[in-house]
Amino acid sequence: MQDVVTTAFGNPSSLHWAGRNARRKLDDARDEIARYLHADASGLVFTSGGTESNNMVIQGVMAMFDGGEIVVSAIEHPAVLDAAEEWAKRLGSWKVVKVKPDADGKMDAATFMAACNERTKLACLMWANNETGVIQPVHEVAKACRALDIPLLVDGVQALGKIPIDLAELDADFVSFSGHKIGAPRGVGLLAMRKGVKLESLLVGGGQERGRRSGTEFVAGICGFAAALGVLDYAKAAPIRDDFEAKLKAAMTDVHIFGASHPRTGNTSMFCIPGLEGETLLMQMDLAGFAVASGSACSSGKRDPSHVLMAMGAPEHQARSSLRVSLGAGTPADITDALVKTLLTIRQRLRKMSGR
Ligand SMILES: Cc1ncc(COP(=O)(O)O)c(C=O)c1O
Repeated sequence: MQDVVTTAFGNPSSLHWAGRNARRKLDDARDEIARYLHADASGLVFTSGGTESNNMVIQGVMAMFDGGEIVVSAIEHPAVLDAAEEWAKRLGSWKVVKVKPDADGKMDAATFMAACNERTKLACLMWANNETGVIQPVHEVAKACRALDIPLLVDGVQALGKIPIDLAELDADFVSFSGHKIGAPRGVGLLAMRKGVKLESLLVGGGQERGRRSGTEFVAGICGFAAALGVLDYAKAAPIRDDFEAKLKAAMTDVHIFGASHPRTGNTSMFCIPGLEGETLLMQMDLAGFAVASGSACSSGKRDPSHVLMAMGAPEHQARSSLRVSLGAGTPADITDALVKTLLTIRQRLRKMSGR
């Protein structure tokens, strides 16, 4: 990125040498990313991130029809769920049909497809869930949607870099990705579109990205995205996660790990420690130097339990006491002992304080 900023600082749409330098870098990055994804380079549209890529598809499809239905899994990221619901509310002529997963967070392909019908204008199923890491049956659903001629959006944000990605094999109409989940800078994302698929443009202006997303491209960020793909090594995350979960269960036998009965991305562990509020645990872990997440999302001041766990049918108290540990590419393997020890110490301290 440093090299791009200093040597290819031009606007890639400009015809002079500085612009041509930037264009070359942009084209090379696009080709590199296409090779990694097994995708057609001309179908790649660079965006500002996963949220924009998802909104681009949802709003773009809604702009093409007078109304209809959008079928989504109930465990989608808000960038899909809220986008679909908000635009359905604003436009009035759309219905969002939410399909629940099984009790351990995996969508059943047949159940999902049963919600699709001749009014369905778009189906959305994420590749891997951002809270539990559970990998969803996107290949089965893509095949079924193709047979029914229903466009499918696959939110691949949590899958990229964690499991093999082959878009030629998946054959979905739209797949969204985000750079910052794999070490690229924040502010760069991608939408991979199947050849020939139609979509109204959300951003209209200078006609960049083949008219599908106007706005001068973030060349350095896009090159950073390509570079990040080249150095990804997530294979080492799963053994560390498994070691952590084994030690956690040995230390606290009442811990429940969500999604553990299904294949998951190797970097994610979501669990609940009965009797403890996830938010309290998060803050205590923060004080101890660990950056972990609680399952619940803080929105507009009120703490809602995780919509993912609620859709899985988890009791509210369990959803509220959930915590998520995500391993990065640089997480040291020997962190698990300290992590479990800290959780145990916090639990004992909080129990003592509450007199239990
Ligand atoms: C599954 C999923 N989709 C979409 C997004 C949004 O991506 P971005 O932060 O790049 O807008 C996220 C971010 O956490 C995510 O986990």
